[in-house]
Amino acid sequence: MTTDTDVPALVEMRGITISFPGVLALDGVDFFLRPGEVHSLMGENGAGKSTLIKALTGVYAIDAGTITVAGARRSFESTADAQEAGISTVYQEVNLCANLSVGENVMLGHEPRSRGGIDWKAVHEQARGHLTSLGLELDTRSALASHSIAIQQLVAIARAMVLDAKVLILDEPTSSLDRGEVEQLFAVIRDLKEAGVAILFVSHFLDQVYEISDRITVLRNGKLVGEFPIDDLPRDALVTAMIGRELSDLAALSSVADREIPRDGAPVLRVSGLGRKGLLEPADLDVFPGEVVGIAGLLGSGRTELVRLLYGAERADSGTVEIAGESARIHSPRQAMAHGIALSSENRRAEGVVADLTVAENMILGVQAQRGWLRPVPKAERDAIVGEYMEALGVRPADPALPIGNLSGGNQQKVLLARWLATQPELLILDEPTRGIDVGAKADIQRKVAELSAQGLSVIFISSELEEVLRIAQRVVVMRDRRRIGELDSSDVDLDGLIDYIANADEGSVAR
Ligand SMILES: Nc1ncnc2c1ncn2[C@@H]1O[C@H](COP(=O)(O)OP(=O)(O)OP(=O)(O)O)[C@@H](O)[C@H]1O
Ligand SMILES: [Mg+2]
Repeated sequence: MTTDTDVPALVEMRGITISFPGVLALDGVDFFLRPGEVHSLMGENGAGKSTLIKALTGVYAIDAGTITVAGARRSFESTADAQEAGISTVYQEVNLCANLSVGENVMLGHEPRSRGGIDWKAVHEQARGHLTSLGLELDTRSALASHSIAIQQLVAIARAMVLDAKVLILDEPTSSLDRGEVEQLFAVIRDLKEAGVAILFVSHFLDQVYEISDRITVLRNGKLVGEFPIDDLPRDALVTAMIGRELSDLAALSSVADREIPRDGAPVLRVSGLGRKGLLEPADLDVFPGEVVGIAGLLGSGRTELVRLLYGAERADSGTVEIAGESARIHSPRQAMAHGIALSSENRRAEGVVADLTVAENMILGVQAQRGWLRPVPKAERDAIVGEYMEALGVRPADPALPIGNLSGGNQQKVLLARWLATQPELLILDEPTRGIDVGAKADIQRKVAELSAQGLSVIFISSELEEVLRIAQRVVVMRDRRRIGELDSSDVDLDGLIDYIANADEGSVAR
């Protein structure tokens, strides 16, 4: 491991200060990134991680401080400028050209030429070479948009290699990857690290941070808390450094998963044989009043497809749906809402944020849609709803009048989650509700879901974090290869048991 503090830093940021109207996003922060290290930047939602990255890469101008790269003082005007200097960034929202081919994206701006112009054959050959070195076998002529986010992120890394990046920045790249894809990404990161690339990593998944990092820098409220070698910072110390207090324990929540759910009456929702050719094999699902049903499985296993079909966001070609014992026809989200069903989608940021509106307006949109657009929500009621959810989910800054675009990624997620909680549905479907959310706020969200379900709300809870599924769901439905494999009582199975079941169980078998 090249984590010697003696190795001179490739990137030195000193005293970095950036303020936005009303917010001191960074306050005199120092950050050092060395060649051949994986350095994680940690902090709560809104701590300033993305802002520090944007300061380095020329997206934001700094108000004070200095940036030195490879010994020279720099101030980049744009990301292109930073790329030129060997600093490449891969964001969660992939910043490539979706309508171009994979090969074109990898080679963009560096296309090999022959006398007649761009040599397309060579473009694709070279692109293929870079992708293969990352362990990716892809048709380089296929459109980038036809691939999963995971693949697109790896393509973005291949592109960074073409640019001969000395610094690779990954800001929450793993939020939408499944376990296998994360392993693939980590293998690539390890190779790049061996080759001396300096890697800056941001993720809210603590397991991943501990697996891949050599060093951690912690920010809190725009201030530097400290820089630590990974071995000197056990998990609980990291969490305390991030949130400035100990994480109040989640023990109380375990009683939620163990709660007895009466299943003799009519279920709130009964789905029988719901499916669509090529999307999902016919599947069954029951949800009883006050029950939290988890859906577990790898990405692409059919979890999201199942809920989108029952919500009417996708057309089913088989199956029936009953709501509270009555047969229901749900062909659109509007009809689902009329039946008291709300869906908070996994693509919240892409599908849900209305950038021109304030935090409060974004939050109230769900309630407004439910009422119909001709009946504005009275101000007093609106303020009450906004106040309640700002508080319950800990939205920061706690100012509902801000444009939502001023909030950090995680805080935008919280607002969109609030939008659906506020509609007070009978059945709430949450697809990856804690993705991109920091450890403290994750606990707040889990607590809120537990509290609402104890009051009678029924919930379908999809999450790649199996620990949280087991903690709050009484029952877990397992999907694989776009099929429902089976169903477990969460009190009968532990984490390893669930992982094993997801990977290996035969259809219809019982958990061990
Ligand atoms: N363009 C902007 N305009 C105004 N305020 C902003 C802007 N971008 C960020 N902020 C504010 O700066 C602070 C730091 O935000 P930043 O996005 O860096 O947080 P983060 O640590 O990346 O959080 P997350 O984990 O949620 O992604 C927050 O208070 C945020 O509201
Ligand atoms: Mg961020």
